[in-house]
Amino acid sequence: MSELERAAELILDAETVVALTGAGASADSGIPTFRGKDGLWNRYDPRELATPEAFAKDPEKVWKWYLWRRKKIAEAEPNDAHRILARMEEEGLLEAVITQNVDGLHQRAGSERVIELHGNIWRDECIDCDYERMNDPERGEGLEYDELPPRCPECGELLRPGVVWFGEPLPPDALVEAEELARGCDVMLVIGTSGEVRPAADLPVIARQHGARLIEINPSETQLSHHMHVCIRERAAPAMRRLWEEIRAMR
Ligand code: OAD
Repeated sequence: MSELERAAELILDAETVVALTGAGASADSGIPTFRGKDGLWNRYDPRELATPEAFAKDPEKVWKWYLWRRKKIAEAEPNDAHRILARMEEEGLLEAVITQNVDGLHQRAGSERVIELHGNIWRDECIDCDYERMNDPERGEGLEYDELPPRCPECGELLRPGVVWFGEPLPPDALVEAEELARGCDVMLVIGTSGEVRPAADLPVIARQHGARLIEINPSETQLSHHMHVCIRERAAPAMRRLWEEIRAMR
């Protein structure tokens, strides 16, 4: 039996399937990953762009980088990995997507239950008061500001992008929900993550400790590969297309 057939069989036999996605799930949409040869952290220093200290030192520089990323994301379209996960949820084959991605592409593809562990790049949050605003890129929002860094319309303090930076805790509700899903699922589909960033990378381990079978979709071996029951060594979009065909043939 091929790895693809084994994956399809595990999914069809499972009661609860959960997906965990990372930057590799959006790579086929043309959005760069963080690690590896073409990764963002190869070209940029995360300490200068993605930490609270970097923002305190030079908020304009940090905002410019996030606006560049927002533009790239606005120009991108969800790929078949996003679309098939949405379809699987619609057909009752997938409980939820837990994502480390901040691009919102799962939601744009139609996924309903998306748990964002690292926030959402389209949200603006005040660093001081409770003000926050979700920008809609389809309406051209959040792509440029009259002044940089932008300021809170309520209190005048700085706005920041609604993502989790290095050294910051994850949104507690999202983490609790993700851990519950990890403990309760029978299959976790781990797509396009290097497994180098915790606590997201602990989720497959938690799932396995609670009896789940793990499927990895990733062209490369990762920190998590040795925990996997099935590895599909292919890019996310073609792998999900073939997996979906296999599932439909077996149903
Ligand atoms: P990484 O950049 O660390 O890993 C991307 C993974 O995707 C690698 O394992 C690649 O082999 C794989 N990959 C590349 N192209 C792919 C494709 N077309 N299809 C499938 N897989 C592919 O990204 P993450 O694991 O998501 O955090 O990184 C985790 C966190 O580190 C990010 O959320 C971000 C970053 O710093 C924050 O910003 C807080």
